[in-house]
Amino acid sequence: MTSVLEVRGGKPLKGEIFVRGAKNLVPKAMVAALLAEETSTLRNVPAIRDVEVVSELLKMHGVDVDYSQEEGELKITPGSPELPDPVQVDALAGSSRIPILFCGPLLHRLGEAFVPDLGGCHIGDRPVDFHLKVLEDFGAVRTSTPYGMHITAPRGLKGRPVRLPYPSVGATEQTLLTAVMARGITELSNAAMEPEILDLIAVLQKMGAIISVEMDRTIRIEGVDKLHAYNHTAMPDRIEAGSWASAALATKGDIFVKGAEQKDMTTYLNHYRKIGGAFDVRDDGIRFWHPGGELTAAVLETDVHPGLMTDWQQPLVVALTQATGLSIVHETVYDNRFGFTDALRGMGANIQVYRECLGGLSCRFGRQNFYHSAVIQGPVKLKAADIDVPDLRGGFSHLIAALAAEGTSHVSGIELINRGYEHFMTKLEKLGADVTLS
Ligand code: EPU
Repeated sequence: MTSVLEVRGGKPLKGEIFVRGAKNLVPKAMVAALLAEETSTLRNVPAIRDVEVVSELLKMHGVDVDYSQEEGELKITPGSPELPDPVQVDALAGSSRIPILFCGPLLHRLGEAFVPDLGGCHIGDRPVDFHLKVLEDFGAVRTSTPYGMHITAPRGLKGRPVRLPYPSVGATEQTLLTAVMARGITELSNAAMEPEILDLIAVLQKMGAIISVEMDRTIRIEGVDKLHAYNHTAMPDRIEAGSWASAALATKGDIFVKGAEQKDMTTYLNHYRKIGGAFDVRDDGIRFWHPGGELTAAVLETDVHPGLMTDWQQPLVVALTQATGLSIVHETVYDNRFGFTDALRGMGANIQVYRECLGGLSCRFGRQNFYHSAVIQGPVKLKAADIDVPDLRGGFSHLIAALAAEGTSHVSGIELINRGYEHFMTKLEKLGADVTLS
């Protein structure tokens, strides 16, 4: 049964919250631990569903995982991993896309891997063809089973030039986790350069990997025979920080996001300032607030790093419903990330979505049937509604809209938000939100 959150909106969110390690780094660093035998220690680990899922997957592979929630410290001892029962792994299908990243480390440590059908948020098609091609390039062979894919490497894994058709975050991670112990040199071109990837590279370097990063999206990896355990503090979650910043803007609030780091958020901060949001960077976090007066409409295009990241888009769209004039948002990373605007329209927002590219970036979705541009006319007074959470970021955005709206909204399926927002109910209450969970 899903929980329903009753939100009595119209109150500015005010106060301080703390953001821990990045959802899009921590699970990958957990997978990297598999490359060694001894105990790795990861700190600043948030208590989110994605961490639970990867912990369960690791345990199924015979890995010892010990998480202290209060300290946010995770100890992972792989020892000699073993192949789990595919039925067990398959039971986790639909919960996460991380299992595909187990392939490289398991092929190195065990000689085989099993990947269930993959879950994650339903945004666009979210295929895994780049991952499969990368694995094939290294010499992996896959066979289909009723529960998913069985992968082996009969001749071992061998480094080689790899070129991604698009700078995919996951496929870059797949290449890194496979190349670090493959024979010879891998030169990866058109790689993703997200801060979470650079943090994963830092983890791998601590383990003994040899990786160099060029400014032109090239990553060069020299394979080594053995890696050892790491000790690492995960970078803060810049998506969560940006989500709370947008919530401050949409609700006319004032939120100090402890743990947020400027260097990972410069593009977001530029847009925040142009829209009319105020922020103050401090040593221990960033304060975000609505300075009063009108917000300014804006033109935004999502892109791979260092562009405006797609996961900041949905919360910003809610803030833009409160800006004066016409805002234009061009989503160039996912083909279908405006589904969440249906519910916003139901709350009174004036948003239209288009198949055309409304922006200057060349985009893969332009001449196809994808509604990947949006025009938002503001400001509007949002009204309360009953909403179903569609996915992680869309769901958080609905929550922000409900908090900004006058009246009582009911938001159902909020479990999805736990995938990436640690203790978000406690944080909402700390910020003075008038909410009840039933
Ligand atoms: N793509 C393919 N084939 C592939 C892989 C990707 O066509 O094999 C396409 C995707 O469909 C998408 C684009 O390439 O259009 C970019 O996808 P990418 O591989 O970069 O995304 P990902 O690794 O699956 C991660 C984050 C996402 C975040 C994206 C982009 C994790 C667990 N997920 O996904 O985070 O939006 O990078 O930055 O790291 C979220 O946190 O809510 C979330 C969805």
